[in-house]
Amino acid sequence: MGERWQAVDNYIAAKLLGADDALATTLANNAEQGLPPIDVSAAQGKMLFLLAQMAGAKRILEIGTLGGYSTIWLARALPDGGELVTLELEDHHAKVAHQNLERAGVSDKVDIRVGPAAGSLAAMTGEEPFDFVFIDADKQSNALYVAEAIRLGRSGAMIIVDNVVREGGVLEADSDDERIIGTRALFDMLAADPRLDATAIQTVGAKKWDGFVLARVL
Ligand code: SAH
Ligand code: DHB
Ligand code: MG
Repeated sequence: MGERWQAVDNYIAAKLLGADDALATTLANNAEQGLPPIDVSAAQGKMLFLLAQMAGAKRILEIGTLGGYSTIWLARALPDGGELVTLELEDHHAKVAHQNLERAGVSDKVDIRVGPAAGSLAAMTGEEPFDFVFIDADKQSNALYVAEAIRLGRSGAMIIVDNVVREGGVLEADSDDERIIGTRALFDMLAADPRLDATAIQTVGAKKWDGFVLARVL
């Protein structure tokens, strides 16, 4: 079914997304600079853009920048004066992202902070609360990242977490894969934490069979 999932994503993109030079050049530049092709899909990027707009987000936090493909979608959802903070471990990824954000004309809205996200988050105190948080970095840290998103988000903030299904891998209770263990720890945390309300939606498409967590900070 994988080819058909991809074909339907191509159909959706052709119908609803249209050509986009800045985003196409971003993906080409990422490949040229050796970044792995693990960005959200075009249809998913547009979903993030629409969700951020629907949430009226003025301040967005992203964890996991890569080459800034999802960052560009989210930054475009911001009103004038809005700001996006994005956290990235790898200096090389951050440099490529900066080039891509410049070319897309959104770099003045985006603050890329380089280093392990856990440290960058711990250093965030006294910031204006975030309205929208997109988590898409090392999967083993997802429970920590959601806890930090609650700390840094306003009441009513929207939290989205990518890659929470992994072709059904989430069901493997005795897995020794750190990413599966981390994903299951995320679900345990979401189930137990009274400070948010959450669901998860499975997806198929260009990113195969995967899914997102959607949560709202109470
Ligand atoms: N959101 C991007 C894809 C992110 S891929 C998009 O859709 O376009 C995951 C990124 O998280 C990679 O760039 C990786 O270097 C970064 N990452 C991995 N571990 C991290 C950590 N501990 N702290 C911050 N970033 C991390
Ligand atoms: C991987 C990471 C992602 O964030 C993603 O969307 C797809 C794959 C990975 O590490 O393989
Ligand atoms: Mg992802």
